[in-house]
This record gives sequence, C-alpha cells and structure tokens, in this order.
Amino acid sequence: MTTAVPAASRILADDRWSPSSWRSRPTAQQPEWPDPAALRAACAQLARLPPLVTSFEIESLRRQLAEAAAGQRFILQGGECAETFEGCEPDLITARLKILLQMSLVLVQGGQRRVTRIGRFAGQYAKPRSADRETRDGVTLPAYRGDLVNGPAFAAADRTPDPIRLVRGHARAALTLNFVRALLDGGFGDMQHPEYWDLDFVRHSPLAAEYQGMVDQIGDGLRLMETLVGVNVSRLHRVEFFTSHEGLVLDYEEAQTREVPHRAGWWDLSTHFPWIGVRTSASDGGHVEFFRGVENPLGVKVGPSTDVADLLHTLERLDPHGAPGRIALITRLGARDVGRLLPPVVEAVRRTGRPVAWICDPMHGNTETVVPQSGAGKGMPTKTRKFAHVIAEVEQCFEVHRALGTHLGGIHVELTGENVTECTGGARGISEEMLADAYRSPLDPRLNYEQSLELAMLVARRMRG
Ligand code: PEP
Ligand code: CO
Repeated sequence: MTTAVPAASRILADDRWSPSSWRSRPTAQQPEWPDPAALRAACAQLARLPPLVTSFEIESLRRQLAEAAAGQRFILQGGECAETFEGCEPDLITARLKILLQMSLVLVQGGQRRVTRIGRFAGQYAKPRSADRETRDGVTLPAYRGDLVNGPAFAAADRTPDPIRLVRGHARAALTLNFVRALLDGGFGDMQHPEYWDLDFVRHSPLAAEYQGMVDQIGDGLRLMETLVGVNVSRLHRVEFFTSHEGLVLDYEEAQTREVPHRAGWWDLSTHFPWIGVRTSASDGGHVEFFRGVENPLGVKVGPSTDVADLLHTLERLDPHGAPGRIALITRLGARDVGRLLPPVVEAVRRTGRPVAWICDPMHGNTETVVPQSGAGKGMPTKTRKFAHVIAEVEQCFEVHRALGTHLGGIHVELTGENVTECTGGARGISEEMLADAYRSPLDPRLNYEQSLELAMLVARRMRG
C-alpha cells in the first residue's frame, strides 16, 4: 500500500523542522520587539483564534498553480504594496476586488485562458525595509515596518513595535476576507450583475469600447449556455478568490501554522499563498527554514541581486521533491535588465526539472524617483513607475519564456481600484507634473484603475500570441 505523503511533511523525519525551528537561523527583517512577554501573549492569543483560510482552499490553489506552470492557466495577483489598518474600508475593498475581477474577465476573454485571482490583500500588512532605523533632525527611531508591526508617524509611540498589532492585523485581515467572501457569495462576480462590471472612471477612455465588447461577448455566451442547459450558469460556478501576502514577520506566521484533521503536514492558515521577498530568500535564513515546512504553495521573489546558485539551494530546501504547484518564482528584474538577467535564471531552474510557475512582477524593478518641474508637486522628489516600463518588462518576460520553451504563468502587480496618479503614462498620459494631483500611496506607487485595465488588455493580447 502506498500513502501519498505531502512533500513538506516528509522533511520532518530527517531534518527536524518545527513551526519554531526558524528561530535557530539568522532571520532578516524581524522587528525588535521591546517586550518579549507581550509578544508571547500576543502569539498565544493568535494561535487560539480561528484560521483565516482552510487547507482545502490551499490545496485548490496548489493545483491551479501547477496548471499555471504547465501553461494551462494564468495567475493574476494584485493589490496594495502595503495595506493599512485604516484602509480596511468597504469602498476600498470593493474597488480593489472589482478591478481584479474586471482584469481577470479581460484575461479570460481576451487571453482565452483560465485565470486564478489572488489578492495581494487581507493580510499584506508587513514591509521589509532597507534600513532598520530612520533619523530625522538628529532623532533616530525604528523604521516603519507596516501596520502589523508599528505605526508610520515619526514618533517613538508609533514606531516602537507593538505585538498587539499582530492580533489586530489578523482581525483586519479577517474583516477584509469576510467582506470579500460575502461579496462573491452574494453574486458580485456574476455576469448577471452588469453594474459590477461597469467601468467607473474610464467610461470615456479609449479602452472602454474594447472592454465593453468583451463583457458583451461573455454575457452572450452565458445566456446561450443557459438557454441550452436550462440553469443559471454563473450560479453553478462561483468565482474563486485567494489571498496572499509577504510572509515576513515569522512570529505572526508561526502562530497561525497548524496541523488540521484528515490531512498530513502543517499549514500556514494566515493566507493561501505566502511569498518570500528578495531580502529574505537566503537559503540558510529563517524564512526559508520556516516556509519549507508548511504545505502552502510558496512564492519566491527573484531580483537583480538574487544569487542564482543560492536560489537553487533555496528551491532544494523548499521543494526537495519538485512537487507540482509548490513554487512560483516571481521575477522582478526591471525593464532595463530583464532581457539579460531572466534567461540564465530560467535555464538554471529548468535544468533542475522543477515544474515552477513563472510570474512576472513588473513593479518592483521599475521604481524610480523623479522631481516634477511644475504642478502641485513641483520640486518634490516623488517615487513613481513608468507604465511603459511596466509593460516592457511583462512583454520581455513573455518573449524570454517563449524563446526558452517555458511559460509566463502570471503577473504580480501593485494596483488600486481608485483613480490615483502614482505611475506615469498609460492611456490618459499621466505626466510627472500630474503625480501630486492624487498621490495616495504611503509606500510604492500603484497602477490606477485605468492603467490596470490597460495592462490586462495588453497582457491578454500577448497571451493570444
Ligand atoms: C513587495 O512585493 O512589496 C516587495 C517588497 O517586493 P520585493 O521583495 O520583490 O522587493
Ligand atoms: Co511594493
């Protein structure tokens, strides 16, 4: 008799993983919690609370990532750079969900491929920082690491890491996810509700007609199916939705990691799809140690500074058996360098025979600081991204994978459903001078509603070849 044993749990026998074994490894980007007793109490509380997601959902996503790796499915992962506790508001959540659904409709219809939607939200509360501390006017305080850890205001009270934030972060993630699940259960993703598929700010955009054509085609197709089958088709197949966040603060992830009845292994139930950022992916570090032991599919970011030999060690630790759907490599190399840097990474991984899903993050390699010469932000250094660079990186990823016989299995983007002005370019030609008009991101600049839709259309065209 053979019993299927999930890859990760097999490690337990020979290499003693436990949810806390990461603690004996050098672990980058962790807050300096000032009060260990308070941290222990917060984690104990977290460990007793209900999980945010279930093992069934995680298994389903793993199967879908395996399909993406094989070129049969496309992953759309998107949301905030950093969610804030304050931003846990129904309008913002609805707008974000809406743009993701609209983008996925464009990808399904225009790209003719099944699409998996993964929100970069309901838990995206922790940020890696390039420096542990920040100094202003001779005062030095801990850097802001996201609402899960401390507050953004430059004051000791805000910046001191407070473990009760771990519990509040879990609660905000639960509130967000509860609302998303209720919206989808209530028909938010159904084609029968044209109001949900309507374009808000972009009705007059050059993209509107093409988009409306896609909506109409899908609507016609569904109505035809209903006539033929005699049932409400969209009710038969509800929109599935997954969450993701950077698995950064390991006290938080550990407290949410459990065994579940009737399934082998340990599950990080704080999210479906945690990813490991470029600053924490060292093969001998605490993050790789922690995540190698959980059953979730894992994203691993790959940047210009990633050492390919060490990446292979990281993969060996996270996925010793090359399990389908286990790993997604999220490359963020920048439009300028992707053509040079991506092929050796793809070839090295391909030689190992691992069926990884390749996802392009066209945001994090394309961040730049500009100083507008006029407008409301005149003379102020502003973090932005050029839409043309975002597109150029995605295009080149398609090209490299096509040339090497692998598949681009998805995109990972920072976006918002609002009408902000944070990235330049796009159909409406946002200029540097316009950036200050509606710049709201506390951290990285996001694609706005119209730019996100435009990106989806360009990607869909590429998918069709
Ligand atoms: C991010 O995705 O917000 C991020 C910090 O990415 P990276 O680790 O790729 O820099
Ligand atoms: Co970011």
